[in-house]
Amino acid sequence: MSDRKVLVTGATGFLGSHLAHKLLSEGRHVIALARGSKAASAEARVREVLNTVGSIDLSRLEVCEGDIAQPQLGLKESVSRTIASSIDQIWHCAASLSFTDEDRDEIFKMNLGGTKNILALAEQTPTRRLHHVSTAYVAGNRTDLVLETDLNVGQTFRNAYEESKCQAEMLIADAHGKGLVVSSVYRPSIVIGDSRSGRVTHFHGVYAFIRGLWSALERLRRRMPEAGTVNLPLRVLGAEATTLNFVPIDYVVDGMVEISRQPSSVGGTYHLANPQATENRIWLPHICRVLSVEGIQLVGETSFLRTPMTKLEALFQKQMAFYYQYLQGEPRFDCRRTLDALRNTGIECPGVTVEFIHRMVGWYVSFLNSARQGTGSSSPGPGAAQPV
Ligand SMILES: NC(=O)c1ccc[n+]([C@@H]2O[C@H](COP(=O)([O-])OP(=O)(O)OC[C@H]3O[C@@H](n4cnc5c(N)ncnc54)[C@H](OP(=O)(O)O)[C@@H]3O)[C@@H](O)[C@H]2O)c1
Repeated sequence: MSDRKVLVTGATGFLGSHLAHKLLSEGRHVIALARGSKAASAEARVREVLNTVGSIDLSRLEVCEGDIAQPQLGLKESVSRTIASSIDQIWHCAASLSFTDEDRDEIFKMNLGGTKNILALAEQTPTRRLHHVSTAYVAGNRTDLVLETDLNVGQTFRNAYEESKCQAEMLIADAHGKGLVVSSVYRPSIVIGDSRSGRVTHFHGVYAFIRGLWSALERLRRRMPEAGTVNLPLRVLGAEATTLNFVPIDYVVDGMVEISRQPSSVGGTYHLANPQATENRIWLPHICRVLSVEGIQLVGETSFLRTPMTKLEALFQKQMAFYYQYLQGEPRFDCRRTLDALRNTGIECPGVTVEFIHRMVGWYVSFLNSARQGTGSSSPGPGAAQPV
């Protein structure tokens, strides 16, 4: 194993913390580039979230306070030079996952500008090796089969996040093509908790949707404390037969690290997606079952033309506007290159079975219940606190 260091961005976040944890647990020396907050230094934030991911020896962790959106990542020239000369790879996970198009400028500043700044650092390193974490949803509004080799094929985008991530990939492809960096790109789909425990440390995507339902039910249960299963008539704008592609965090991280070690990954793009996406009509009823609620159904727009939205439906739709976009259909992600790279490694993407959905949602609902009761026994840590 190389004794050079690895730079990881986004180590206070969901993917970056799990990735840094894995690299450290394999004995790598990790430099985490992270921001401080009003309440805590970058160092304290990274250490806390890594301990939340799992107990770990942090003696090979260095935290460097920086900001990917700033020129030279907000680092002094001498610090930047020292880092560049001591690392043999960069894992770029940091990004804005803001879902509101009002934040468009900020999203582009982080996701495109941040990638530009990371490329500039990568170019100064001895190996110029860059591992870039993108998203499968750079495919935008496509609903056909998306190959791992596809990037800019004239697709349109649902939001600024997808568009900025696509442009960031194009920057990387350009720099790789010119020989300025040696890159690999990883595109996870919708990342969910650990496949064995259901545990999750940050609540994006489907977790925000579950939380929205949970909060509505909490309000109802306060009024009807005796109620077991609650009837909540709520029409959700979405198609029953379209899918969401869920992929557990352990598969994503183990898969990316394994692929990154293979010389053939240079210049490659990999869909860390589930070969089997889950139909909306499968996952939604099971989430409802775990939440003990009935009456939630997916409907088309004509339903609201026939019967206008209730106040609750309008509120839910407003709060969940970002997630609703994905209930109308998503691309199908071809994963052949990823599956080939992971063949015979023992790393396989678990299917999203009923049992799996219950484990994942069950873990999160227990967490929400214990947080409400103030017991916080399964508190996932600092990065998780923000409700999405
Ligand atoms: N979660 C998913 O389902 C999913 C799916 C597909 C792809 N991805 C990709 O995976 C990567 C990581 O996502 P995630 O889910 O881990 O998101 P996350 O939990 O929101 O983490 C984002 C990370 O980026 C950092 N960051 C943002 N702006 C920064 C800046 N200006 N300077 C330094 N750090 C900055 C954040 O730091 P702070 O803590 O300081 O804000 C945080 O550590 C992203 O590239 C995302 O596009 C995620």
